[in-house]
Amino acid sequence: MTDDIARIVDDGIGRIARVGDLDSLAEVDRDLFGKQSALATIKAGMRDLEPAERKAIGQALNEAQTRLRAAIAERRESLSADLRRQRLDDERIDLTELRPAQRPGHLHLVTQTMERLEDVFVGMGFTVAEGPEVEDDWHNFTALNLPAHHPARDMQDTFFVDLGEPGDVVMRTHTSPVQIRLMESTTPPIYSVMPGRVYRQETADATHLAVFHQIECLVVDEGISFANLASTIDTFTKAYFGDGFSSRLRPSYFPFTEPSAEFDIRRPDGSWLELGGCGMVNPNVLRNVGIDPEEYSGFAFGFGLDRLAAMRHGVPDLRQIASVDIRFVRQF
Ligand code: PHE
Repeated sequence: MTDDIARIVDDGIGRIARVGDLDSLAEVDRDLFGKQSALATIKAGMRDLEPAERKAIGQALNEAQTRLRAAIAERRESLSADLRRQRLDDERIDLTELRPAQRPGHLHLVTQTMERLEDVFVGMGFTVAEGPEVEDDWHNFTALNLPAHHPARDMQDTFFVDLGEPGDVVMRTHTSPVQIRLMESTTPPIYSVMPGRVYRQETADATHLAVFHQIECLVVDEGISFANLASTIDTFTKAYFGDGFSSRLRPSYFPFTEPSAEFDIRRPDGSWLELGGCGMVNPNVLRNVGIDPEEYSGFAFGFGLDRLAAMRHGVPDLRQIASVDIRFVRQF
């Protein structure tokens, strides 16, 4: 009878190894351990045996069951792994595959504008610098010649962050703090542009957003003059807008530049677009970052990007720029 048991085990192990899927394995399991199985029949016949023989057969039966169950468990494990692998393969999606018939995603209008502007400036020899959007008072205001209680602070309605000393942490109101970071961490010559997102506490309307984008240009070197500022703005204007465009400066005021100006772009049809602010870096600012104004001078200009993008693409309301309406986004 032990021979019978050995044969059942060999046979069973062979079948277990040959099954190709979990259903067939369950079937083998039933055949081996079910009520009608050969092992069950032997077990049922045990009551007619002599005690000594019964013990031997009982042991052989136990061992047989243990081996068969282990073989089934192992096979089940490996079949399940195959199945998982197969399913992963079947459900694999190639995210890099573009079907021409489908619309692939694209960069947002503002990002496209930002990248084009960066390209133009890089083509003119500038490097690109970035800074944090959450700023401290020093970089956003004080170092830019806007000490506490300076009335010009009201030019930029500020979002304060509840962090550190009261009033010390702000959402940056312009990209000019990146100038400070750059001048603090490098020595002139500096020829850089600083694009980024800025925040002002304003109610959004057709011409204002509370979250918008600026790009700023900073040059600090020996012998930099106002003529360099004007010609750089004009070179940029022609490189970005086209040969038919030109620029002009109008006197203005910013605490961080002296003298200061606003600059406008003249379109080929003779109309003007007010673009941004500029000026010679105020000597106080240079001193604040440890640059000797006797040795170096510089200029800076900055402008908003969203309005520029809206203008260029005939978007009548700036709030659309911030909208997530896919019908709007897809147009550009
Ligand atoms: N930071 C100024 C603003 O946001 C713009 C500006 C930049 C003016 C550089 C002068 C020089 O209003």
